[in-house]
Amino acid sequence: MAEINRVGVIGAGQMGNGIAQVLAVQGIHVHMLDVNMDAARKGLETIQKSLSKLVEKGKLQPHLLGVAVANIAPGTDYAALKDRQLVIEAATENLDVKRRIFKQIDEAAPEGAILASNTSSISITTLAAGTSRPKKFIGMHFMNPVPLMQLVEVIRGLDTDDDTFNSTMELAKRVGKTPVACNDFPGFVSNRILLPMINEAVYALMEGVADAESIDSIMKMGMNHPMGPLALADLIGLDTCLSIMEVLQRDLGDSKYRPCPLLKKYVAAGHLGRKTGRGFYKY
Ligand code: CAA
Repeated sequence: MAEINRVGVIGAGQMGNGIAQVLAVQGIHVHMLDVNMDAARKGLETIQKSLSKLVEKGKLQPHLLGVAVANIAPGTDYAALKDRQLVIEAATENLDVKRRIFKQIDEAAPEGAILASNTSSISITTLAAGTSRPKKFIGMHFMNPVPLMQLVEVIRGLDTDDDTFNSTMELAKRVGKTPVACNDFPGFVSNRILLPMINEAVYALMEGVADAESIDSIMKMGMNHPMGPLALADLIGLDTCLSIMEVLQRDLGDSKYRPCPLLKKYVAAGHLGRKTGRGFYKY
């Protein structure tokens, strides 16, 4: 398989713009698409800020800032995907939304192109089955914040072929990440384990076991986690956390995955974490 140098990223939000950034820094051209031009341009602004920060901290050579920005074309038109070798979907964590997007990607991207989803928990096999190319479909799950996190969880669907798997692993390494493979089960490995911990922290908060700061301090200092679970939930987005718990509960069919009512309440109120300025903490 030829080296991947032309990629499409669908979604310019916190995951999509992070993915576009790490690809573009390595000289890969990216069409970064979103539903409107404002959202796509906002994604590019976030990338510029992130790159400047990395340069400031000596983690990125200054000339690579310009290289990366020149390699990203923000847009809205799926026709731009016609020459892409890989398209990575990083839209909202919702099955119907993703299905609709993949239908459009499948129609626009060339026959040989790999289709990847950055989904946090939705079945790769199910998403693949909605396209004409389940063999060329894979999960490529980046961690937030993408420019700083080492891992890419690579998820094989039931029909993913070896070429698709090998090309995806190779690309993740080329952009400086460490890919680790797993099979397609709800939440994969990362969120099958992380989200029940976060959900339990929300139960502890709801039941008054301790306040948010104390819960997070105990987990940070006691377990050597870089962030406490409630601060991490705010970083991930409480709506995304809730969607993942719902997938675990529904698809594994076990009540131990029931989302905490307090998590539901925050989402209902529109307090979604850092992105809305309020979650378990205020920003
Ligand atoms: N680009 C560039 N710089 C960034 C950045 C980005 N996207 N995001 C944060 N930074 C900067 C911060 O602004 C900060 O800069 P200053 O020091 O100038 O303030 C700097 O990075 C470092 O921040 P900190 O000093 O606060 O913390 P740190 O260096 O120890 O690490 C961290 C930050 C990497 C985010 C760390 O706290 C961490 O690893 N947290 C856990 C993250 C995690 O678990 N992610 C997985 C979430 S789950 C997921 O993504 C999957 C899913 O499907 C839900």
